[in-house]
Amino acid sequence: QELQLNLEQIEKGGYDHFMLKEIYEQPRAILDTFRGRLRTNEAIIKMSGVEDNMKKFLNADRIIVVACGTSWHAGLVSEYIFEDLARIPVEVEYASEFRYRNPVITEKDLVIAISQSGETADTLAAIKLAKSKGAFVFGVCNVVGSSIARETDAGAYTHAGPEIGVASTKAFTTQITVLTLIALRLARAKGTISSSDYRHHLIELELIPSKVEKVLKSDDYVKTIANIYKDVKNFLYLGRGYNFPVALEGALKLKEISYIHAEGYPAAEMKHGPIALIDENMPIVVIATKKGHYDKVVSNIQEIKSRKGKIIGIVTEGDQQVKELADHVIEVPETLESLSPLVTTIPLQLLSYHIAVMLNKNVDQPRNLAKSVTVE
Ligand code: G6P
Repeated sequence: QELQLNLEQIEKGGYDHFMLKEIYEQPRAILDTFRGRLRTNEAIIKMSGVEDNMKKFLNADRIIVVACGTSWHAGLVSEYIFEDLARIPVEVEYASEFRYRNPVITEKDLVIAISQSGETADTLAAIKLAKSKGAFVFGVCNVVGSSIARETDAGAYTHAGPEIGVASTKAFTTQITVLTLIALRLARAKGTISSSDYRHHLIELELIPSKVEKVLKSDDYVKTIANIYKDVKNFLYLGRGYNFPVALEGALKLKEISYIHAEGYPAAEMKHGPIALIDENMPIVVIATKKGHYDKVVSNIQEIKSRKGKIIGIVTEGDQQVKELADHVIEVPETLESLSPLVTTIPLQLLSYHIAVMLNKNVDQPRNLAKSVTVE
């Protein structure tokens, strides 16, 4: 028994929980995921799974992303990246809905299946269905040799390393990294991105691990915010554009491990419902980075403030406007809007982690949840 405990301590590498260890591993995991693929000096991206199937990618009429849970959120981020950079229409589907909907799929569709474990039953079934209709299926998995990795026609692994905590963290940011690399590679091949913009993206992507490192330094401050709000019953998360899926993911993290009810919403949709929930007891996490529809998000923040909601802003370093309005701001380094989810996600992971710890919840193995869902 004691030996078992010690072993686990060693595996946690000095951290109290696997989840915290995995949050802190993200700079390294992201680096490992683009290492060898992102060659900034030569201005190329090399991924054999994409190169070998370039025709399939370039001839695809659309991309259909299938996934579940956090991987589905990574898929939503990729919708913005693929459409914005590579001008390919994207649909993002919950695998469980897709598989039973009698979906329209043809040989001209390219399906991307995203899965950390590579074992999720619904995602696997969606892949089989898509293949039976003649679509080409590309996998983005973390676990080497997993069922989904084997079932797909080609793929690219995330190199996050083993993820033990049930709430996914480093798998999410490495999935976004892989999907960004693919989108950039396709954008270059299709000529939908200028060479200077392309280069700018490569340089900025390479800087992401050090920027994530910097965000992790706000951990103590995030902890003080967690302490203020740990006893509330509801949370709202708002974001726009690339950061709308990050709002969903932030809310999911909180639900999963602290059991506090949380909803993620596109900031502009607030007026169509969630605004009715806002009073002085409601904390609202708003992602308001400089380049992402900033002015519009600021006006959303003003609306929240006039209803006395408590505002936790995720802002770009040096921000003034939101700082004046918000109750708390967590700064993240500036980067391209398309890469911002990789930094804005980090404080949301830390916030949910600290709240769950303060509430004495089982962070690594939350009740009723499983790391890999192999039944439907
Ligand atoms: C479970 C896990 C989530 C995960 C989801 C999809 O619900 O608890 O963390 O996002 O499955 O898993 P996958 O392995 O397919 O990414």
